Amino acid sequence: MMTDDLAALRAEAEMALAGAADLRALDAVRVAVLGKSGSLSGLLKGLGAVPAEARKERGAALNRLKNEVEALLEARKAVLEAEALTARLKAERLDVSLPPRPFAPGTAAEGGIHPISRTIEELTAIFGSMGFRVVEGPDIEGDWYNFGALNIPDHHPARQDHDTFYMPGTDAAGQRLVLRTQTSPLQIRTMLGEPPPIRIIAPGRTYRADHDATHSPMFHQVEGLVIDRGITLGHLKGCLTDFLRAFFGISDLPVRFRSSYFPFTEPSMEVDIGWNRKTGELGGGGDWLEILGSGMVHPKVLANCGLDPREWQGFAFGMGIERITMLKHGMPDLRPFYESDLRWLRHWAAEPLAPASLHEGI
Ligand code: DAH
Repeated sequence: MMTDDLAALRAEAEMALAGAADLRALDAVRVAVLGKSGSLSGLLKGLGAVPAEARKERGAALNRLKNEVEALLEARKAVLEAEALTARLKAERLDVSLPPRPFAPGTAAEGGIHPISRTIEELTAIFGSMGFRVVEGPDIEGDWYNFGALNIPDHHPARQDHDTFYMPGTDAAGQRLVLRTQTSPLQIRTMLGEPPPIRIIAPGRTYRADHDATHSPMFHQVEGLVIDRGITLGHLKGCLTDFLRAFFGISDLPVRFRSSYFPFTEPSMEVDIGWNRKTGELGGGGDWLEILGSGMVHPKVLANCGLDPREWQGFAFGMGIERITMLKHGMPDLRPFYESDLRWLRHWAAEPLAPASLHEGI
């Protein structure tokens, strides 16, 4: 049974709780009622003075009231916390569709995407939309991965010491170590590492003992490999034509496939695009520019990777990333790519938050 003074205290606490506008006000109510010298605590302390026959009942009523007030406090606290969270979410709302704020030119915070990185982003976007996945491999390769498994004969010039950077020592399998001269070893690593069907590109650094306006000892290539049943030259031609037109943003770019030789493909084809030799303009113009190497994966390469050439076929291709970047943007010299000259970087950098451009797409 609740006596009048307890009913009044309860009503008072309820009102104070309802009126508490935030968590701080709520805590003040808690202290005023349940704190050391709070109103309810005062009544509990006064129990001793209550006549013995009424004390038990009064004590029980006070405890019930205490529990009730505590429950009311918790409930109000939950409401206020939810309100506070909603208010914060509203205040801290971020419009992710806003364009980035431009940095003042020349400030340290100014940054951009290097043209090589941007080309890799674009390649990845275009081949990604055709179902290719990106794989990576080590810069220091075993010579079987870089040459032997790719059917590159011992007398091939690429194997000679003055063309290739060899490292001291061998790997665990006894292979001579080389700075990879091409991204083609990723064909071998992928075919050995997973069963077909395979559809990968492998962009990355490559190394050769070369240095002039169009060659650097370190440069980048991207390799492509497709392995499946019933893959034909038609797939190769369609895939590379679509890629070149999307990458250069010219929907009717002339593309020519010219018979050639690579040890790891049979037949092999060099791919040319149409351009104007005089103006340097890509597209029409009647001249041809060699752009990449490709072919149907050689049966010996498939067999070296444990695949039966009668069951699995595929095509592969490889191209220089600097080369296609220079052609796309009309850059005359390869060397500034690696010189970190801020004027060059500012001129050619892509905006960091702009998505890789696919032009007309594929
Ligand atoms: N690895 C060759 C090079 O560095 C490029 C290449 C040509 C890669 C033909 C291929 C290919 O996969 O099929 O010159």
